[in-house]
Amino acid sequence: MNFELILVNPAYAAHIALIQLNRPKELNALNLQLMLELKQALSQLDDLEEVRCIIITGNQQAFAAGADIKQMESKNAIDLLKIDQFETWDQIRKTKKPIIAAVSGFALGGGCELAMTCDMIIASESAKFGQPEIKIGIMPGAGGTQRLTRAIGKANAMEMVLTGKFISAEEAQRMGLVNRVVPEEIYLDEAVKLAKEIALMSPIAIRLAKESVNKAFESGLQEGLYFERKNFYMTFASEDQKEGMNAFVEKRKPIFTGK
Ligand code: HXC
Repeated sequence: MNFELILVNPAYAAHIALIQLNRPKELNALNLQLMLELKQALSQLDDLEEVRCIIITGNQQAFAAGADIKQMESKNAIDLLKIDQFETWDQIRKTKKPIIAAVSGFALGGGCELAMTCDMIIASESAKFGQPEIKIGIMPGAGGTQRLTRAIGKANAMEMVLTGKFISAEEAQRMGLVNRVVPEEIYLDEAVKLAKEIALMSPIAIRLAKESVNKAFESGLQEGLYFERKNFYMTFASEDQKEGMNAFVEKRKPIFTGK
């Protein structure tokens, strides 16, 4: 797996593949070629039976400082439509195996969006997350407004997207954006530790479970509420509902039988 702008090791550890974004001078700015390589690498790793979990990382200074502004600067809307780079991003999202982002330094704009496209995020203490597009006269385009809002709530997402301010790893953890924050020296090891835990499980169950968790983010509120309501009604078909409510009224502890 030889690429120019990413380094890929399909056997970084047992059942674990590592992809390292490798444009250090440009703070791993995500140009079209890098994204295409990333898509190809993920698709190949998805097909390798021995790989059970994939880690994407950058370096200590930057996970990725966003889409490549220099490449985008002169483009107009129709150019972007024709390039259709989001087809590449969609393919990344469709990777069947779990992906962990191991983030240190800047994860900004498309970099933050890429980390959020992964399934889990392990952050180093120096990680900084942000959607600073607003400062250059645009807005997030690779899922930032949607994934960030789902991850950290409307008020927090609104503030980040409308001001472009960065948040620290610690704040990101408090808001629920990242799984955990560890010292810079061990963030990759920590990601590997998590990947190893996942790699011990049934790959089939892992695949189905990943799909199922993602479904929670893919159905609209109306559909979700409808689903919830049906299940709420269904609880009233149980003896446990009668027992639970009756016990409340009689001021005693309920005895649930699962019927
Ligand atoms: C192109 C970038 C870049 C980017 C950094 N560089 N970010 N090049 N695109 N997104 C380049 C700089 O031009 C510079 O190259 C080198 O990397 C080092 O960056 P500096 O700015 O000198 O470093 P520093 O002063 O430490 O500041 C770091 C920084 C800043 C705060 C991260 O670079 C920055 O604000 N970058 C842009 C962040 C951003 O706006 N991201 C959102 C992009 S839009 P030279 O050759 O000049 O030394 C986006 C939309 C996604 O992501 C839509 C979907 C695809």
